[in-house]
Amino acid sequence: MPFYRSVGQIPDKRHTQFRQDDGSLYAEELMGQEGFSSDSSLLYHRFRPTAISSSSEHRPERAEPVANHPLKPRHFRTHKLNGGSGDAVFGRNHLLSNADCRISYAVADQPSPLYRNAIGDECIYVESGEARVETSFGAIDIGQGDYLIMPMSTIYRVVPKGPEPLRTLVVESTGHITPPKRYLSVRGQFLEHSPYCERDLRSPAEPLLVDGEDVDVYVQHRGRGSATLWTKFTYAHHPFDVVGWDGCLYPWVFSIHDFEPITGRIHQPPPAHQVFQGPNFVICNFVPRKVDYHPDAIPVPYNHHNVDSDEVMFYCGGNYEARRGSGIEQGSISLHPSGFTHGPQPGAAERSIGADHFDELAVMVDTFRPLELCEPALDVEDSDYAWTWNRDPA
Ligand SMILES: [Fe+2]
Repeated sequence: MPFYRSVGQIPDKRHTQFRQDDGSLYAEELMGQEGFSSDSSLLYHRFRPTAISSSSEHRPERAEPVANHPLKPRHFRTHKLNGGSGDAVFGRNHLLSNADCRISYAVADQPSPLYRNAIGDECIYVESGEARVETSFGAIDIGQGDYLIMPMSTIYRVVPKGPEPLRTLVVESTGHITPPKRYLSVRGQFLEHSPYCERDLRSPAEPLLVDGEDVDVYVQHRGRGSATLWTKFTYAHHPFDVVGWDGCLYPWVFSIHDFEPITGRIHQPPPAHQVFQGPNFVICNFVPRKVDYHPDAIPVPYNHHNVDSDEVMFYCGGNYEARRGSGIEQGSISLHPSGFTHGPQPGAAERSIGADHFDELAVMVDTFRPLELCEPALDVEDSDYAWTWNRDPA
């Protein structure tokens, strides 16, 4: 994140002696992006963050994704996925992936193991439920509508709480996920035209200290080419031993309900709804809002073909007017690939005329390289979706 924070105890001067009560030195760790040339934080550990006692292969069972071939638009019903007895990390059902990102859906009612994604940042969107997310930087609570941006290589675990399971859409990136550059000043402050700003963000407020020895951490890391590998490290001491940290790199949360929609007299394209950017993809959200107020406006989108993008839409609240009659429901994901022109369902344009408000909540991921289909997605595909534009209006 662009702005500086300081939590817990830190020495006055970086890289100087900072001693524990017994006189030993705290172990200082710089966690930084792009070598030493971008955002970073300094963390002060009670124990050496380098002390591991074992490293072993871990091989979660995953089928290889397949190409979207023959090409067609797709609809996946995430609420039909197996769920209810998993955790928020190993319970991720992979749905769509390419060399830049992977999109998954998880239903979790158990704490996850300690986990580190050493491939890239993660964006975790909470469809429903609540959890406490414990990290080396401290703990942070998440609930419905929250986006959690977890920096690459942060050690964390997700502990669901409350009576409902935690339902999340997860975007795992192969790089860094940030607010769109155009929302930020050259020094990183949110600008006035941004639909959200620093006051809307939350992050850990105090250190989290956990005692323990011989603690396992599952690491997802780079393999050959774009392959993903997993290794289980055993740390000599619990990695949640940071008494203080400061810097501009840390996990943070933004609620979709704090996104201030930008509206106009005529239809506003998705970049007006962008919330984050990643390497070769963007994340946008469609929130309840007043709609187009030109006297002849058609509030639902026009047919469009974004020739460079595969468009993924996760329908997570309200009614998505443009898709009525298509079978899309709460928890649905649509994939509108490059090579296919998509648009509102039959009759949607006419029905939307005169509307002044849309009560919809959806998260969109636009990828600039084609997405492949993972087995869990195909298991819950609505195979009729592709033909729903070839029908009479609902
Ligand atoms: Fe679209």
